[in-house]
Amino acid sequence: MTTQEKIDELNKVAQEIRDFKSLDIAKNAIHAVPGEGNPDTKIMFIGEAPGFNEDREGRPFVGQAGKLLEKTLAEVMNLKRDDVYITNIVKFRPPDNRDPTPVEIEACRDWLDRQISIIAPKIICTLGRFSMAKFIPDVTISRVHGQSRFVEFGGIKYIIFPMYHPAAALRAGSMMQEFIADFHKLKTLLSPVSPIVPMPPPQAQTSLF
Ligand code: URA
Repeated sequence: MTTQEKIDELNKVAQEIRDFKSLDIAKNAIHAVPGEGNPDTKIMFIGEAPGFNEDREGRPFVGQAGKLLEKTLAEVMNLKRDDVYITNIVKFRPPDNRDPTPVEIEACRDWLDRQISIIAPKIICTLGRFSMAKFIPDVTISRVHGQSRFVEFGGIKYIIFPMYHPAAALRAGSMMQEFIADFHKLKTLLSPVSPIVPMPPPQAQTSLF
């Protein structure tokens, strides 16, 4: 897909999300929060659900957790939030920031699946346990955060990189260190594994003997 085609498809998904009123959290939302960022990015971040600030602005991760995400992206990876794509498992704010329910996650699933296949990132970073469970079920985040793995999803292999949610890092000092350390690991995932060394031409090889 060209960049313009991706933008058009993502806009279609966003409009469907904004028009959707079949869940209480959608009816009660000030704004739906579809997601935003670079449609050609190699890295997609998936959080849990919009909070108070996101609901007011209609944009993901604009509160304290978002500030930490932005700061860490900039300081560790030299990336701006516009360089990546940021979205959530659930596209409307659950009241009092409660956990999203299985029904709410299921209602939003097709939109997220389409966002993933349109953007086709190399790496999907899950922020917190709800988005991790979409790709890596039956594990605890404290055991697997910072460990990348290939997961086939919709017929395509993605690198899934589970991370703590930035709100959890803000609550506990030890998690903050691990959150930042995981960003350093993420950075290494983006750099080429090894430089490509050109093979010497056959003539050069034979002349060695
Ligand atoms: N927490 C999330 O999981 N998503 C947001 O967009 C904001 C806070």
